[in-house]
Amino acid sequence: RKPPSRKGSMADVPKDLLQEIKRLEEMFSVDTAKLKSITEHFVKELTKGLTVEGGSIPMNPTWCMAFPTGYETGTFLALDMGGTNLRVCEIILTDEKSEFDIIQSKYRMPEELKSGSADELWEYIADCLQQFIESHHGTKSLEKLPLGFTFSYPATQDYIDHGVLQRWTKGFDIDGVEGHNVVPMFEAAVAKRGVPIKLTALINDTTGTLIASAYTDTKMKIGCIFGTGCNAAYMEDCGSIPKLAHMNLPPDTPMAINCEWGAFDNEHLVLPRTPYDIIIDKDSPRPGQQAFEKMIAGLYLGELFRLVLVDLHDNKDVHIFEGQNIDKLRRAYTLDSSFLSMVEEDPFENLSETGDLFQNKLGITATHPELELIRRLAELIGTRAARLSSCGVAAIAKKKGYKTCHVGADGSVFNKYPHFKQRGAQALREILDWAPKKSSKEEDPIEILAAEDGSGVGAALIAALTLKRVKEGNM
Ligand code: GLC
Repeated sequence: RKPPSRKGSMADVPKDLLQEIKRLEEMFSVDTAKLKSITEHFVKELTKGLTVEGGSIPMNPTWCMAFPTGYETGTFLALDMGGTNLRVCEIILTDEKSEFDIIQSKYRMPEELKSGSADELWEYIADCLQQFIESHHGTKSLEKLPLGFTFSYPATQDYIDHGVLQRWTKGFDIDGVEGHNVVPMFEAAVAKRGVPIKLTALINDTTGTLIASAYTDTKMKIGCIFGTGCNAAYMEDCGSIPKLAHMNLPPDTPMAINCEWGAFDNEHLVLPRTPYDIIIDKDSPRPGQQAFEKMIAGLYLGELFRLVLVDLHDNKDVHIFEGQNIDKLRRAYTLDSSFLSMVEEDPFENLSETGDLFQNKLGITATHPELELIRRLAELIGTRAARLSSCGVAAIAKKKGYKTCHVGADGSVFNKYPHFKQRGAQALREILDWAPKKSSKEEDPIEILAAEDGSGVGAALIAALTLKRVKEGNM
């Protein structure tokens, strides 16, 4: 996609709205100096998270202890419990280097499940798994298939098929899981149905993304998710992980770290939070958590946008949506990031598509000046998200001393949100002081590229690497 080309026409925008646009621009813009200071603080927090005392970023060791060679083989199941969908895959890592076949089924995670009971969650997951296996293998008893379970929430792992949920993120709020090892709960539900699988590895989507991307591109050093949530993983040396010192692992042993960087700046020291970010946090099921994620991730972008518009409408000095019924807009979380994407994608000079969206989805007839404000607001929120995300990428690169590398990225925001990639790349250039490119074909020293499927192929690869490690007699 090309960068924005539409020339806005502000000619008919009245003074009060122009003033509001300016105020929003000041509130949501993050300049180069600020990006740099956030990145500096980020590097310190990454390091702190690896110490025994810890910091705000969990920096969870994942027991994924090698990059793939490309020669891994075998048949694996992968179960992906993300924020929005549940996906079951069968992956065959073939004899061809870096090649795989995949079949998969997607199941929508019902909204009620996210705040339901733990039993309902595990039963639903086991049902989907059973259905998948029955439709692809029949009910005949099989040798147990090794399964990689992508559980994309912060978990403390003492080994690879173990994970104590630290806390729910991404709006999940299910009692009786936080503080517990999720593996036995999952296994019990599966055993009850006699589903022939063996959980081999519990992984995070970012670790999966890192490994799956490195399978086909050895320059990949960081795996990121910019989707419903936002997070990254990279490979650390055990010698740089003081909190694992008691394990006496050789200092040069690699260990993938799931940063859980969504928790960055939970103490509110550096991020430029607006009053709207504060409301999002306060009204979320886990106030005080995931400060960085709540400014960036897809789950929150539409809600931020909605909160600003409602606030402007309720402000007596600003005249927006006057005489209109905004009841639909008042409903929390009615707008998701795809709504914002559509606003940013409207190609028309008069923003007629955005006008239709407001009419059809919210029952609001917006005037042209209002549409100009709406478009600018979407750009500001989308740009801030992309720019802040790059601080995390730059921080890992700085911590590891990577001057050049590839970063594998996945998730709905990265893949679908207009201009997210270009805006993120631009911010990286500013933070890391790169000279401008000589031609558009030239690569940046650090490129954020679309990743391979981490939660499917990555999970299978990590399961394969785990079986290999066990076979070789390493822990
Ligand atoms: C949230 C989760 C994290 C996951 C990310 C992307 O931040 O806590 O584990 O990687 O979302 O899905």
